This record gives sequence, C-alpha cells and structure tokens, in this order.
Amino acid sequence: MDYLTFLLAILHVYKALCEEMFWDTTVKLAKNMTLECVYPSADTLTQMEWFKINATEKESIVIFNPYYGVMIRKPYVDRVYFFNSTMTPNDMTLSFHNASEADVGFYSCFLHTFPHGPWEKVIRVVPSDSFETAVPSNSRIVSEPGKNITLTCQLQMKWPLQQVMWEKIQPHQIDLLTSCNLSQGRSYTSKYRRRILSNCSQGMRRASIVMPYVTASDSGLYRCRFKASTGENETFVMRLTITDGETDNRYILFVAGGTVLLLLFVILITTVIVILHKRGKRRQQSVLVKESWDTQNKAANNYRSPMFTNQPPDDAREDIYVNYPTFSRRPKIRV
Ligand SMILES: *[C@@H]1O[C@H](CO)[C@@H](O)[C@H](O)[C@H]1NC(C)=O
Ligand SMILES: *[C@@H]1O[C@H](CO)[C@@H](O)[C@H](O)[C@H]1NC(C)=O
Ligand SMILES: *[C@@H]1O[C@H](CO)[C@@H](O)[C@H](O)[C@H]1NC(C)=O
Ligand SMILES: *[C@@H]1O[C@H](CO)[C@@H](O)[C@H](O)[C@H]1NC(C)=O
Ligand SMILES: *[C@@H]1O[C@H](CO)[C@@H](O)[C@H](O)[C@H]1NC(C)=O
Ligand SMILES: *[C@@H]1O[C@H](CO)[C@@H](O)[C@H](O)[C@H]1NC(C)=O
Ligand SMILES: *[C@@H]1O[C@H](CO)[C@@H](O)[C@H](O)[C@H]1NC(C)=O
Ligand SMILES: *[C@@H]1O[C@H](CO)[C@@H](O)[C@H](O)[C@H]1NC(C)=O
Repeated sequence: MDYLTFLLAILHVYKALCEEMFWDTTVKLAKNMTLECVYPSADTLTQMEWFKINATEKESIVIFNPYYGVMIRKPYVDRVYFFNSTMTPNDMTLSFHNASEADVGFYSCFLHTFPHGPWEKVIRVVPSDSFETAVPSNSRIVSEPGKNITLTCQLQMKWPLQQVMWEKIQPHQIDLLTSCNLSQGRSYTSKYRRRILSNCSQGMRRASIVMPYVTASDSGLYRCRFKASTGENETFVMRLTITDGETDNRYILFVAGGTVLLLLFVILITTVIVILHKRGKRRQQSVLVKESWDTQNKAANNYRSPMFTNQPPDDAREDIYVNYPTFSRRPKIRV
C-alpha cells in the first residue's frame, strides 16, 4: 500500500511538472471575491469539490453532494460560501467573505456528472496590481437580444501562426472562451458559462466565434489574440453592446410619460398665471374703487362736516352708508 501511494505521489509530481499550468479564468483578488463555476450541460451532478492547487498538491476547500449536502473543510469554515441561486442548480460558484493575499493562487472546480463524467475548471487568482486593466477597444458592435453574433479577427502580419485565443474581459475577471492550436487544428473546449462556436483549422489567417442567441449579459469587451511560433503576438479588442429591448420600451414609456407630465405642468402653470392675473386685476379695481370711495368720502365729509357739527359722530356714519349703498358690504370702513 505504502509503495502504491509512493508511486502515485511520484506520478502526480511528474504529471504536475509535465503539464504547463493552464487556466480558464483569471480573477482579480478582492476581499469579496467570487470564483465562478457553472457547468454548461444539463447532466445530473453526482458530486463536486473545490480545491486550492499549490505547488504539487490539491487542498480540498469544500465538497458538495446532492444527497449528503455541503461540507466546508476546517480552514475555510466562515471564509467561503456557496453563491447559490435556485434559478441555476448547475451553479457551483464559490464566494469568499474576506479574502487576503494568502488566497492568491490556482483553484479547481472539479465535478462529476452522469453520464458525462469528470469536468474541471481552473481559476487563477492574481493580486489586484498584476491584473491588467484599461484595455482600449478597436471596434464596436451593437446588436439586439436573440441574435446570433459573429465576432471576426483578421491577422495583419505574415507570421507563422501557432495559436488563437478569444477572451472576454471584465473589470474583475478575464475568461478564456476558446483556444485554437493551429498545429493540431484543434480547439480547447471552453469552460465559459455560455455556448461559443469557433473555427480552428491549420493555416487559417482569420478567426471567428459565434455566440448564438445573445442576451444583455453578453455585452462587454472581447479580445482575440494571435500568437506566432516566433513568440510575437497581435491582439484586437471589440466592444459588444446588446441593447436591452425591454429597456427600449421602458425608455419610450418614460419619454411619453415625461411629455404628458410636462404638458400637464404647462397647463397647470398657465392656469395659475391666468388666475393670478385676473385676481391681480380685480384687486387693482377694488383698490381703485376704494381710493375713489375714500376721496369721495373725504370730499363728502369735508363737504358735510359743517352740517353735522351738532350731531353725534355715529349718526354721521349711518348717514354715509345711506349715501353710498354700493359699499354697504364694507362696514369696517370708517370715516
Ligand atoms: C460582493 O461583490 C458583489 C459584486 O462583485 C456584490 O454583488 C455583493 O453584494 C458583494 N457582497 C458583499 C457582502 O459586499
Ligand atoms: C500546500 O497545501 C498544504 C495543505 O494542503 C500545505 O500544508 C502546504 O504548506 C502548502 N504548500 C505551499 C507551498 O503553499
Ligand atoms: C443550489 O440550489 C439548488 C436549488 O435549491 C439545489 O438543487 C442545489 O443542490 C444547490 N447547490 C448547492 C451547491 O448548494
Ligand atoms: C476581515 O479580515 C480582517 C483582517 O484581515 C479583520 O480585521 C476583519 O474583521 C475581517 N472581517 C470579516 C467580516 O471577517
Ligand atoms: C442562430 O443559430 C442557431 C444554431 O446555433 C440556428 O439554429 C438559428 O437558425 C440561428 N438564427 C439566426 C437568426 O441566424
Ligand atoms: C499545439 O499542439 C502541439 C502538438 O500537440 C504542441 O506541441 C504545442 O505545444 C501546442 N501549442 C499550444 C500553444 O498549446
Ligand atoms: C467555420 O468556417 C466555415 C468555412 O471555413 C464557415 O462556413 C463556418 O461558418 C465557420 N464557423 C464559425 C463558427 O465561424
Ligand atoms: C505581445 O507582444 C507585446 C509586444 O508587441 C508584448 O509586450 C507582450 O508581452 C506580448 N504578450 C504576450 C502574451 O506574449
């Protein structure tokens, strides 16, 4: 048994040394970090496990079985959790609560499905300062949801081409979509969450990928990279924008609603102005009338004062109302 274990260990080391480390996705280290793992087939999941790969070993982080549930290994309890949504039972995405520099490295999302068997996605976590940022785009494509989109790149140089890679670039992660080895004329199967069709043949100078039935979530930056056997490389970056049909409808509704509201507002303002204007005129008239009444009253008073000199002032007021019956509703007016 010990001998067998030893042999296996040797084999393992040998395998690790021979295999160049290869990854499907690069993720920028962040405290709140998410390692995306969605297996694209509809097969039944029998078991899955997340590993951290260091040097020659695979350290188990968490194991999941549909019958026995989830078991998080001791060093990772309270540090990781499954980012699970009932919408996608094939989503094995793992999240970190409080990741640190110690979490930089390679991770493996390894699962078995029935009847297809094993499936593995490798994720590389890099410190934020070594994550490439600010990728300028060379072209722009705008389309609608539900369309089949073809992205194409043409090699400009006359190099002997060795490899063509397509990537999706996001601010926090870079996903490898396809990788074509021209000497084999074979493509690496992507572990990306959506289906991508691509061409890979010996001697090709033009690379393309097809994304059937695009959705708004396919918007973003796409990069194709040609690598020559001499080591040179050439890249193209394109920005794909999928306009959300619903957003457009909502936008139209928003604009229409806004116009109606504006119209109502204008009508309201006009009404208020007209009312104020009318009121202003009426007040002006009443002020004018009051003034004229006052002057008349004064004149009358002046005129009558000699006559009422012997009478009590109350009677005088009474007398005035009688003289000006139109102002009888204004009893407060005093002489
Ligand atoms: C973690 O980051 C994701 C986006 O990257 C965000 O949706 C989520 O709310 C964040 N969670 C916490 C606990 O900050
Ligand atoms: C690799 O992981 C093991 C635990 O599985 C740990 O004991 C060892 O120190 C790690 N090696 C390196 C180089 O990080
Ligand atoms: C995620 O949720 C679905 C539906 O509730 C469940 O079938 C699946 O086992 C869950 N996966 C994990 C890893 O918890
Ligand atoms: C995150 O880690 C820091 C130290 O690295 C610690 O002070 C803090 O309490 C941790 N936060 C959580 C939510 O675990
Ligand atoms: C989109 O591609 C699918 C195959 O993936 C095909 O059946 C369908 O007809 C295509 N639709 C259009 C509009 O080209
Ligand atoms: C392409 O395939 C050949 C033959 O299998 C191999 O020697 C070479 O390393 C591969 N190149 C890449 C970039 O994977
Ligand atoms: C692959 O190339 C063939 C012709 O060489 C073309 O008909 C086909 O549409 C291409 N497929 C993709 C996915 O680009
Ligand atoms: C691609 O070529 C540029 C120089 O043209 C170089 O700086 C860069 O490191 C190369 N990238 C790769 C991945 O080889």
